[in-house]
Amino acid sequence: MTTSAAPLSQDELKTLVGQAALKYVVAGEIVGVGTGSTVNKFIDALATIKDQIPGAVSSSVASTERLKALGIKVFDANEVTSLAVYIDGADEIDGKGHMVKGGGAALTREKIVAALAQRFVCIADESKRVPVLGNFPLPVEVIPMAAAQIARRFEAMGADVTAQIRMKDGAPLVTDNGQHILDVRGLKIAEPLAFESEVNQWPGVVTVGVFAHQKAAVCLLGTAQGVQTLEY
Ligand code: 5RP
Repeated sequence: MTTSAAPLSQDELKTLVGQAALKYVVAGEIVGVGTGSTVNKFIDALATIKDQIPGAVSSSVASTERLKALGIKVFDANEVTSLAVYIDGADEIDGKGHMVKGGGAALTREKIVAALAQRFVCIADESKRVPVLGNFPLPVEVIPMAAAQIARRFEAMGADVTAQIRMKDGAPLVTDNGQHILDVRGLKIAEPLAFESEVNQWPGVVTVGVFAHQKAAVCLLGTAQGVQTLEY
């Protein structure tokens, strides 16, 4: 009689890809670190090789706290001119490495650190892979006084499109940058580059959670068959 192993849980897949990302860390170089539950697994793995790197540039207060708690030095983004690699999760990733990010409200700093990096390595479980971006509500960081105006502009894009301020404990969530998040539902983002460019220039938009200009170069995807490496 043969017994088959239980399928890996989503948490175990996150651990696998977090550990797999270590091979993209360049010894002697500062590494860019994203935000989220998958990145937390990467940070835990990074602690095991912390003596090989000067430290990290972090994309959120939460990741900074975790990095420091594990004894990894955190550099300010203004202290570095370039990073070899940025490692982060995603809420969705399409077949070309374009992503939706910001489920953890850290999209602005994530995009800033990603823009410093020569290579974006995305770590994700297979539930994040999509043919077209838009199923996950699109996070958009906005200046609070522009929120209603920006919501109307999104809602004018289609009858099914809605945009709502993300709430936390009964009040608008406040990002690490002191701003608010709109979550936009009902979009189908078939042309991510053009969409990102357009929305980014609306007055009051701080950052749109489409990462097409800063897309992934590699995705380490956690699947039932193990870690798949996708290159774009
Ligand atoms: C945070 C992000 C995260 O990368 C994204 O939400 C994925 O998170 P998780 O690894 O917890 O699924 O963009 O702003």
